[in-house]
Amino acid sequence: MEKCVTLKDKTFGLAIPYQQIHRAIVELAARINEDYRGKETPLFLGVLNGSFMFMAELMKEIEFACEMSFVKLVSYSGTKSTGKVSELIGLQDNVAGRHIIVVEDIVDTGESIDHLMRSLVGHEPASVEVATLLFKPAAYKKEVPIKYSAISIPNDFIVGFGLDYDQLGRNLKDIYKIKQ
Ligand code: IMP
Ligand code: MG
Repeated sequence: MEKCVTLKDKTFGLAIPYQQIHRAIVELAARINEDYRGKETPLFLGVLNGSFMFMAELMKEIEFACEMSFVKLVSYSGTKSTGKVSELIGLQDNVAGRHIIVVEDIVDTGESIDHLMRSLVGHEPASVEVATLLFKPAAYKKEVPIKYSAISIPNDFIVGFGLDYDQLGRNLKDIYKIKQ
């Protein structure tokens, strides 16, 4: 029988089991290790809240000296992007001249990542790339290149592995897709 979870008024069915998520993260980390080896102390910048689980899993596979830090950017409520993006908070004075890897849970329309990149560029980093666990290519409307994407998914609403439905479901080890 299909594995399901119910959060408030919605039911979700298993879409991406943990083993598959883990494999995709290990492969992504291998690419990042290859590209950043020898560069001066890159800084991984996790975007809270959604990236916490991906960040933890990714960082365990990173093999070069690096720093990490977290920022927060809230743009979402319920199951549809509001299109409104609020302020970037928590950015410290350690961005100028650094190689930055922004760590996101998911890139959907791209509103959030676009806003965050604009704020970051103003702080004059040496380079900025995006690493996201999930990417919805069919929903993406921006031009920011998404260099490191672990898993591309269709345009469905999902929860688990850090992603929420009204703040619920972030703790789920697997990723679940909404049932219509
Ligand atoms: P964007 O600005 O449209 O790219 O949306 C980015 C943010 O919306 C993500 O960081 C998530 O917090 C949230 N989001 C987008 N799609 C989903 C989803 O399928 N499930 C849960 N949250 C999502
Ligand atoms: Mg997010």
